[in-house]
Amino acid sequence: MLITRATLPDGRQGVDLLVRDGRIAAIGPNLPRPEGVEVVDAAGQLLAPPFVDAHFHLDATLSYGLPRVNASGTLLEGIALWGELKPQLTQDALVERALAYCEWAVARGLLAIRTHVDVCDPRLLAVEALLHVRERVKDWMDLQLVAFPQDGLLRSPGSKDNLVRALDLGVDVIGGIPHFERTMADGAESVRWLCELAAERGLRVDLHCDESDDPLSRHVETLACEAQRLGLQGRVNGSHLTSMHSMDNYYVSKLIPLMAESGVSAVANPLINITLQGRHDTYPKRRGMTRVPELMAAGIPVAFGHDCVLDPWYSLGSGDMLEVASMGLHVAQMTSQHGMRACFDAVTTNAARILGLNEGRGYGLEVGRPADFVLLQAGDPVEAIRLRATRLLVVRGGRVLARSPAAVAQLALPGRDPATVDWRLRR
Ligand code: FE2
Repeated sequence: MLITRATLPDGRQGVDLLVRDGRIAAIGPNLPRPEGVEVVDAAGQLLAPPFVDAHFHLDATLSYGLPRVNASGTLLEGIALWGELKPQLTQDALVERALAYCEWAVARGLLAIRTHVDVCDPRLLAVEALLHVRERVKDWMDLQLVAFPQDGLLRSPGSKDNLVRALDLGVDVIGGIPHFERTMADGAESVRWLCELAAERGLRVDLHCDESDDPLSRHVETLACEAQRLGLQGRVNGSHLTSMHSMDNYYVSKLIPLMAESGVSAVANPLINITLQGRHDTYPKRRGMTRVPELMAAGIPVAFGHDCVLDPWYSLGSGDMLEVASMGLHVAQMTSQHGMRACFDAVTTNAARILGLNEGRGYGLEVGRPADFVLLQAGDPVEAIRLRATRLLVVRGGRVLARSPAAVAQLALPGRDPATVDWRLRR
């Protein structure tokens, strides 16, 4: 396959990209056209590496309304509701819903997902289901599983054993939820235990960390300290970090440099944070999302995750990481050109870095890397976010996995000639 006249996310225009044996064989202007190769004229549209979701819950997705909807809309009712649903789950239903979501994701150009999987169930039903799904989808997307003790590592009896068993079965990353433990001390103890386990096993860490509006929560600090103490720099991620939104500015001026020197990355989940946080406020209501531009300015890798789609915590979503980027952009007020492009990076390259994709399959539009990319009906990353651009072509390993027709409307306006309209900025 040869893609011609593409625009790349870094602004290069008129670029051709040649695929050979599933890998990117050449990138540059006016590449020669080998015989018998399918040519796709990008006509100036954006060719990007695939979307990556750095934070998701594939075991809960598409369960909306089971057994009832979340009436208060809060995180805690969501956790309680998931607890009601857990005993009713079957492996078949879990697999079916997760596979359905993976199909949605691929159609949206989302080809790598880090999903947390609840291990607070001695049957490890969800773990087995998602390990099965990881295997089923491995030729079309990368799933990375995080062993997640949803009900608390110390708070829920048996969680430590379950988590270790999940890792033994092949779960990739160590998860946790320190702010849900009974006390701040228990939360800190859980962080220490989980990081030591990661160091012992050579695994990455990704904790739900301080997903609260509590300005005095201190688990991000503990996570950074443990990462440093145990030499886990570059392998530890804090997800949500919403307490940082409410923290004292002086304290944050000390915390962010600590995170940077500890090599801890961050994942915000804009759709969920703006929906779940600030629920105890009257007005003004806190937004709850962590301090994304400030973290980025300190050189900390920051990604945006979808977190939830149609589950006990969130009643919307469709696997569209451009919707996630758009919400992140708005909530963080990242409206400069630089800021908007950084929001695109948060659902592509930054997320890939946090998942460590270049230690495995490889990621990015570079010669020698796998031919994984998405052709978007947009002129640049900002336009892609603005339009939630149609994924015209989704390619992995040189194989087309999905195609969508361009979004165009036929106008029939009284007193005007028939015309077509699309929503791209005319240049
Ligand atoms: Fe989550």
